[in-house]
Amino acid sequence: MTSVDAIIEKLGATRTCDAGLTKAPWAFDKTKPSYGPGASALDLIPHNAPRQQPLPAEYTQASDDELQERIINAKRALGNKVLILGHFYQRDEIIVHADYTGDSFQLSKNAATRPEADNIVFCGVHFMAETADILSTPRQNVILPNMSAGCSMADMANIDQVTDAWEQLEDICGKGTDADGKQQIVPVTYMNSSAALKAFCGRHGGIVCTSSNARPVLEWAFARGKRVLFFPDQHLGRNTALAMGMSLDQMPLWDPYKPAGSAAPEDYRDAKMILWKGFCSVHQRFTVDQIDRARKAFPGCKVIVHPECSMDVVNAADGTGSTAYIVKEIENAPAGSAIAVGTEINLVNRLAAQHPDKTVFCLDPVVCPCSTMYRIHPAYLAWALENLVNGKVVNKITVDPQTASEAKIALERMLEVHP
Ligand code: 13P
Ligand code: SF4
Repeated sequence: MTSVDAIIEKLGATRTCDAGLTKAPWAFDKTKPSYGPGASALDLIPHNAPRQQPLPAEYTQASDDELQERIINAKRALGNKVLILGHFYQRDEIIVHADYTGDSFQLSKNAATRPEADNIVFCGVHFMAETADILSTPRQNVILPNMSAGCSMADMANIDQVTDAWEQLEDICGKGTDADGKQQIVPVTYMNSSAALKAFCGRHGGIVCTSSNARPVLEWAFARGKRVLFFPDQHLGRNTALAMGMSLDQMPLWDPYKPAGSAAPEDYRDAKMILWKGFCSVHQRFTVDQIDRARKAFPGCKVIVHPECSMDVVNAADGTGSTAYIVKEIENAPAGSAIAVGTEINLVNRLAAQHPDKTVFCLDPVVCPCSTMYRIHPAYLAWALENLVNGKVVNKITVDPQTASEAKIALERMLEVHP
């Protein structure tokens, strides 16, 4: 394994990460709403974003070792009554306690497999906990250890904006189905969206996708409709549609902050994919220049990137896929090989440590972690678990029954396309 410092030097990387990351996440709970330090720190957080109440001092002042011990003890006391899920982008001190670690697709399925667990503690972000609530049984509690762990991309499309776009697009493209029985527009939402948007898709003959199944989901949508409205990530939509053979002029952008979405009505009428103007702040930071530098510094290295990266980055890479794909590619790479990865740094660093016989490094080794995933610190996990031991459920994520049942329709369509 090559040290991170050696890789930084070889790539000539300059420090881009936010200095605020040296602060603990609770330093941001009481200040004005923000995602906290990290890659999405500069994105605008909605006013109604959930806020975390201040953590008791016994947690914020505990040492790292004490917190680890308290988590282990609380988890032991709860036994199979608790299920801890950890997204790949969580820090290692959280991942060590997870019963399942995975990408958002895998975790959404894991949430449905343990009905005996009274409590599902989701170490990830808000939309993932909502999905777990929808897919678990009504008697199970889903807990998000820090309420501020949102997702800046998911927040780039809200139900009012999508409803407004839908009505305008129906005026342009027509409503309902055409003479062949095909829907004029099929809404497809990325998993990284609120339950309200998943419900919108459930109501309008649409579906959910993740980065692991975007292509089969889009094939499903095009078998039923003439066009797709894809939200909130333009990059996943564009990259997948290009791989399916669509051309850029068939993919106008819908900008929710511009009147009539910013393109001409005929562009939407002639479109195959209407792309919502959202993005992931973490993945948008990767560049073609970084890929060129990686190839120069490590001749023969393989470059793999997440499809939330821009089209140029995906085109310049050797492979693209979800975090689960990235994990598998690295596991299957021969010893001695070098792999440059364009995804969140916590996952890349963990993979580098797990594969010391390979050189695994982030395309931007000084990139910030996802600032919302970062909000799940062991202090919050210890607090949530110890409250459960004392019979108190904190930070319960509840999707109202109507939204949940419509969102479940769209999620189940996805699970049918890609079990
Ligand atoms: P996946 O978990 O689907 O790979 O997506 C990555 C991500 O950005 C999660 O928020
Ligand atoms: Fe959202 Fe991007 Fe963070 Fe995933 S990595 S939670 S998409 S901001």
